[in-house]
Amino acid sequence: MHPKTILVTGAAGFIGSRLVERLLRGSHCSETGGGSRLRVIGVDNMNHYYDVALKEQRLKPLLAHSGFTFVHADIADRDAVDRIFDSCSPDIVVNLAAQAGVRYSIDSPESYIHSNIIGFFNILEAARHSYDHGRHGVEHLVYASSSSVYGMDRHTPFSTSDPIDSPVSLYAATKKSDELMAHAYAKLYDIPCTGLRFFTVYGPAGRPDMAYFSFAEKWRRGDKIQLYNYGRCRRDFTYIDDIVEGIVQVMAHAPARCVGSDGLPLPPYRIYNIGNGHPESLLTFVHTLCDELVRAGALPSGFDLDSHCVLAPMQPGDVVETYADTAPLEHDLGYRPTTPLGVGLRRFAEWFAANRTDQPL
Ligand SMILES: NC(=O)c1ccc[n+]([C@@H]2O[C@H](COP(=O)([O-])OP(=O)(O)OC[C@H]3O[C@@H](n4cnc5c(N)ncnc54)[C@H](O)[C@@H]3O)[C@@H](O)[C@H]2O)c1
Repeated sequence: MHPKTILVTGAAGFIGSRLVERLLRGSHCSETGGGSRLRVIGVDNMNHYYDVALKEQRLKPLLAHSGFTFVHADIADRDAVDRIFDSCSPDIVVNLAAQAGVRYSIDSPESYIHSNIIGFFNILEAARHSYDHGRHGVEHLVYASSSSVYGMDRHTPFSTSDPIDSPVSLYAATKKSDELMAHAYAKLYDIPCTGLRFFTVYGPAGRPDMAYFSFAEKWRRGDKIQLYNYGRCRRDFTYIDDIVEGIVQVMAHAPARCVGSDGLPLPPYRIYNIGNGHPESLLTFVHTLCDELVRAGALPSGFDLDSHCVLAPMQPGDVVETYADTAPLEHDLGYRPTTPLGVGLRRFAEWFAANRTDQPL
């Protein structure tokens, strides 16, 4: 078997960098050609949405690995994407590059269209043309969607069979658009595609714009945090390594190509939720996070949580609860996330204490 080439976009990002690390380690990954039988190409435009030094910190250990090549490029640049596909002929593509975050889509809608629509379209086009001239082409295109697509869905747990016609942010609308575009390309060009709806991912070296990370930074500075919807939100927090393991399992199981009764290909296309399947109230989350930060030495003992929290109304674009139905992933691939919140937050707090507390209080 020839060595597999895996293209990961968003490779300097929170999830992308952890996925690349996992692939290069490759310990349990015989189907995707683990360890030395893998070549991983990482793409990222290193944008300034948040601290670029953190992206560089994530990339540094990956660059030391001989199986990894990094390309600094923007997926919205069609020529750059085509050159990458032409030069590396990826077997599996994992598209994680995106403008993430719900609230930022109110301030900077253009960046969502740029990366999530134009960028993803370029990836689909490159995947389509990867079969030109009888070439082997992309075996499986896996891409990130989001639990945000469920919008105001009141029916919990959120199931991939639920209608998702009511996005409440442009971010969600772009992610739903990605799912629709991928379906059309799967049908038209027989490209095996799997979309993954991630649920609030947290962990070491995470995203500073996400609540748990920004709470920790604010408390360190002595600032107050705001608990929206008066703390009554619930989130299906999912630990980073569970997400990464889910992606690796999915990568190895491309939807089968088959032909329908009309003689045309049926779209080799699937969507899965990857979430913990146990929503937690924001208040419980905040108390556990605070306890773990104190335990790790990132906050002083006796830190007064109550005086560092403000209850605030619901924010535009936010939803009250997210809760993943993970049964299809478990049924098809035998996989479900398992890391308890306390364990995951302990690992985050220890990383935070070691990496983000160099400034005195
Ligand atoms: N973290 C979560 O809780 C979560 C939840 C649901 C969905 N997702 C999705 O998962 C994916 C990864 O998220 P993340 O948390 O790792 O975010 P992240 O911002 O840490 O990673 C995304 C990476 O993509 C890069 N990027 C953005 N636009 C690009 C472009 N046009 N060209 C090349 N690179 C570009 C960024 O520089 C960044 O390093 C995203 O698609 C995101 O929408 C994440």
